[in-house]
Amino acid sequence: MRRTLIAGNWKMNGSFAANRSLLSEIVAGLPVSSDCDVLVCAPAPYLTQCAELLTASPVKWGAQDVSEHAQGAFTGEVAASMLVDCGCQYVIVGHSERRAYHAESNADVARKTSRALSESLIPIVCVGETLEQRESGQTEEVVAAQLQAVLDVVDVAQITQLVVAYEPVWAIGTGKTATPQMAQDVHAFLRQQIALKDVAAAASVQILYGGSMKPENAKDLLAMADIDGGLIGGAALKSADFLAIAAAA
Ligand code: G3H
Repeated sequence: MRRTLIAGNWKMNGSFAANRSLLSEIVAGLPVSSDCDVLVCAPAPYLTQCAELLTASPVKWGAQDVSEHAQGAFTGEVAASMLVDCGCQYVIVGHSERRAYHAESNADVARKTSRALSESLIPIVCVGETLEQRESGQTEEVVAAQLQAVLDVVDVAQITQLVVAYEPVWAIGTGKTATPQMAQDVHAFLRQQIALKDVAAAASVQILYGGSMKPENAKDLLAMADIDGGLIGGAALKSADFLAIAAAA
């Protein structure tokens, strides 16, 4: 049985003071025993603060991007080993904002995924189509190509260490959410694509939904057979909303 993962992506938001409040409210508000894993993906300068505030809690922390390189002359980049030094267990790779604003290709995302896995970080590999691609019937073709680039560089054992996040670009930060059935259809398709490589691995991979997930729609989305959690942007910045989504899991 797959565990549920409720992951917050803070994007480029936060401050030491704001994070301290948000994290203390999340830790205090989590149920004592929870069936889901809870994760926050913070901007890199705040990862050590997450380590300080979350080490004694069940909340995990991770990063939002990672260099494809191990170390060296790559000004501004952050190595996977550095994220591990900061206590990260997860890193988001290939978020649509990285693909759109930093021209990350499917091949770049695959290399970052490999690098993360080589340092025992769990990559959360984001895939998703734009509105134009959905409306022209290209959703499956687009997400299959995004996923396949990653599947081509991992072996079967590594597939089970991946998390996939389906984030339709048109639903991110727009208030427009995919209906539970629309999301389920793409999640099931992604799982079938993984099954072409390995059936058992496909059954165990967590596939998260992201795109305007909020307390009002979380329960219905998370009830779908192939939706194993959420990658939450805006609602992860408000402790009450984030906790309500975790409670719906
Ligand atoms: O990584 C998170 C997604 O981009 C979703 O963001 O919940 O603000 O739509 P959102």
